[in-house]
Amino acid sequence: MSCKIAPSLLAANFGCLREEINRVNDSEADWLHIDVMDGVFVPNISFGFPVMEYIKELSKKPLDVHLMITDPAKFINEVKDSGAYIMNVHYEACLHLHRTIQQIKECGMKAAVTLNPHTPVILLEDIIRDVDMVLIMSVNPGFGGQKFIENSIEKVSRLKELILRKNSSALIEVDGGINLETGKKIVDAGADVLVAGNSVFRASDPVEMISKLKML
Ligand code: DX5
Ligand code: ZN
Repeated sequence: MSCKIAPSLLAANFGCLREEINRVNDSEADWLHIDVMDGVFVPNISFGFPVMEYIKELSKKPLDVHLMITDPAKFINEVKDSGAYIMNVHYEACLHLHRTIQQIKECGMKAAVTLNPHTPVILLEDIIRDVDMVLIMSVNPGFGGQKFIENSIEKVSRLKELILRKNSSALIEVDGGINLETGKKIVDAGADVLVAGNSVFRASDPVEMISKLKML
């Protein structure tokens, strides 16, 4: 079974967003990954709801929304209204993660929890059966084009073990520094979904790169 691919729009040319999204529409990509940053949780600011409304109109792929913001629980309704299929909140940003996960699901979205590189997988022991997906950050969040952190491979293996041990149906998504080489290692370790920014949008043929990543 091939893995799912979620191209990260952060690496696209925002001057021609329509063309970039249409490229993804015409590809074998499964989802479109949307990175929202607030300049507080991460040292960068990307874009917010007005831009997401526009993306929602153009994208034929379900939106995989990654919120790199403090207190994402405050914005569940807005995220839903801006077209999210799945809402990723950071473990490090949620004081009441269990409640937030339930609220996301009640709102009609899939719920995912994201781990920064330093956050151990074992902290998910008591929430793993409630989430639809775990997003493992394989770079420190905030910027595209960074180097893949090798420890993420072992981390994915440990997460896979936890999922099997707890009889969870959570998917494993990995985000940051994914290309054909790192993607292969991470899929072999148990990843189900690959996020890819620069390796897709800076490729000479993004549609072809998506197909290659999907075959890993
Ligand atoms: C980083 C974002 C990523 C980023 C990935 O904070 O969460 O989704 O766009 O970009 P690449 O694939 O270029 O590392
Ligand atoms: Zn992301």
